[in-house]
Amino acid sequence: MFEVKDYLENRKGRLYIGGVSAEGLADEFGTPTYVYSEERIRANYDRLLNAFKRHYKDSELYYPIKCNNNLAVLNLVRGLGAGADCSSPAEVYLAKKAGFKRSRILYSGNYLRDDEMQFALKEGLHINLDDLSQIDRLMKHAGKKKPGFLCLRINPGMGAGKFKNLVFAGPDAKFGVIDKHVEAAYRKAKEHGVKRFGIHMMTGSCITEDDYFVGITERLMDLAGPIARKLGISFEFVDIGGGFGIAYQPGEKELDVNYIGKRVVEVFTKKCDQYGLGRPTLKIEPGRYVVGDAGVLLTRVTSLKQAYKKFVGVDAGMNTLLRPALYGAYHQMFVANKLNEARTEKVNVVGPICENSDQLAKDRELPPAEVGDVIAILNGGAYGFGMGSQYNTRPRSAEVLVHAGKAELIRERETFADIDRHVRVPKRLRAGKP
Ligand SMILES: Cc1ncc(COP(=O)(O)O)c(C=O)c1O
Repeated sequence: MFEVKDYLENRKGRLYIGGVSAEGLADEFGTPTYVYSEERIRANYDRLLNAFKRHYKDSELYYPIKCNNNLAVLNLVRGLGAGADCSSPAEVYLAKKAGFKRSRILYSGNYLRDDEMQFALKEGLHINLDDLSQIDRLMKHAGKKKPGFLCLRINPGMGAGKFKNLVFAGPDAKFGVIDKHVEAAYRKAKEHGVKRFGIHMMTGSCITEDDYFVGITERLMDLAGPIARKLGISFEFVDIGGGFGIAYQPGEKELDVNYIGKRVVEVFTKKCDQYGLGRPTLKIEPGRYVVGDAGVLLTRVTSLKQAYKKFVGVDAGMNTLLRPALYGAYHQMFVANKLNEARTEKVNVVGPICENSDQLAKDRELPPAEVGDVIAILNGGAYGFGMGSQYNTRPRSAEVLVHAGKAELIRERETFADIDRHVRVPKRLRAGKP
């Protein structure tokens, strides 16, 4: 029943994360708390990047800050050699704070405000625009100091993703320069004096089909190649985005990243030769693959209710982990002190939020849980804390990093003061002294 990952252990029926007791972590830091394994993040990073580097030395990994923006995590991946993919000025603020050099930050906003464009220009970042209409706007803001480099995010006409809303390219997607505008967009950039170019795509998230990455790279190269030739431009890098899926379901097939790296590089270099593109840097932007399965959300059972169904109430809800409510996503769960007990009950695991969508698992087989038990929810490292909220006026959870058998707090649990820190009440409405 218990699927062993190298950093998750079953010690006599009790869960250990990176050598630390899950129940002990819950006692020490309270619940709900996200726990990340540093070793697992390092291993995921190396496995994926090396799968490309082995076949193409000039491969780089840009980590998307949105996936997990804890500064400790950002420092960790920066230390491993990553660049940063940022989608907002505050992500740039965090990236810089974590030590990413400006020259290694790609600013991939979409539907940008004027001040965001001005910000990206002023910071001197590599800018990745996602529509033809943005180029004139950007150049207007740049004035005389036009950027010498520009990247365009392409919508190659098709995408994929684990859920409908995780498909980021194709006819329904709001992202990217559509194929029939790509030539005009690069031409326009060239007319504005841009001399150095990048090309980028991000066509979907949590894709678990190995060959998809090969096919979509080929498609991008077949779009990029003829245009580069025609316009006499070259690309400093080709960024094929992230989207590398992880196994959320028990027994689900894991991506064969060695196969993907080998085949993507094959098609990439073949197409570079075909179109005379030289040897641009090959970039990938994996978020989920790097941090997703390195995170476990610990939550405590607060109440048991036998209604038409059996409900196991826990202190994490859709405010803590939104993915089940947002996508109907499945997250594996373990009762941390009952790993060796049979899963004899079918229950819904629900949070404390006043929404019926606040159900972290439905009809899930679990060992009989008791009030006070700790439940570990796997694959919480990506789009977990970051998608959390204060809904129902609940302070956000804590985050902990486990390394070499030791746990360190990397984000304090919010307090009541964090709830109204920025709120101002007009004097005329204030209550008198109670
Ligand atoms: C521009 C960009 N790059 C990379 C990613 C990371 O995607 P994933 O976590 O699926 O690898 C995202 C996610 O939405 C993104 O928007």
